[in-house]
Amino acid sequence: MKVIVVKDYNEMSAVATDIMYDVISNKPDCVLGLATGSTPEGMYANLVDLYRAGKLDFSKVSSVNLDEYYPISPDNDQSYRYFMNTHLFDHINIDKAKTHVPDGMATDADAACKAHEDTIDALGGMDIQVLGIGQNGHIGFNEPCDEPVPFTHQEQLTESTIKANARFFESIDDVPTRALTMGIQSILKARKIIILASGKSKAEAIKATLKDEPTPRCPASLLYAHPDVTVICDEDAYSLCK
Ligand code: F6R
Repeated sequence: MKVIVVKDYNEMSAVATDIMYDVISNKPDCVLGLATGSTPEGMYANLVDLYRAGKLDFSKVSSVNLDEYYPISPDNDQSYRYFMNTHLFDHINIDKAKTHVPDGMATDADAACKAHEDTIDALGGMDIQVLGIGQNGHIGFNEPCDEPVPFTHQEQLTESTIKANARFFESIDDVPTRALTMGIQSILKARKIIILASGKSKAEAIKATLKDEPTPRCPASLLYAHPDVTVICDEDAYSLCK
């Protein structure tokens, strides 16, 4: 894995934006694999600025998101569909019909997972996949485990993830306990992967990803098998690697 260590969150967002800019400019009909959470918010704001400045065109771009809570309505302001609309899609000229987030309202979760994986394949895989990383090393909602489920599937969230995500909800009891998520093999379908990490709370996970033996106990470390992964982390997130 290539590692870029930057000073802080803003620099991390700027480096990620530059990489996204290159992908979109070089291939106007590219497929973006997108993540939610606090980490990519700065990068999305920068992409919106570039669009408003006339420097990026999203009219031919498609996107697939990593994950969605389950069950959850797209109108719920904590759903990942809502997040993507409000942080990115509503502010750029992307065709929303070409944006794909797992269906949090599906009556049949397994069918929704299969449909998401079929969408990834029909699009020919992602040109770039953006990832954040959980404090426990999760990517998407692939939680630490002994045997990862390869493709898009339903996942039970761990206590650590529910606690980490409680900050977005009125009470911890409101945090959904399940999610639909791409699997590690779905993520590996991307031609390029960037992992963004900022802050001391991510230092353990970054150390386990970069310095320790790959293990499904740290799902991000399983990406070592991919030929084009760049970890962009700030000094705090990198602090245990020195
Ligand atoms: C979000 C996702 C998660 C987050 C991770 C970090 O789509 O798949 O894996 O990337 O939980 O979240 P933040 O960025 O809020 O620290």
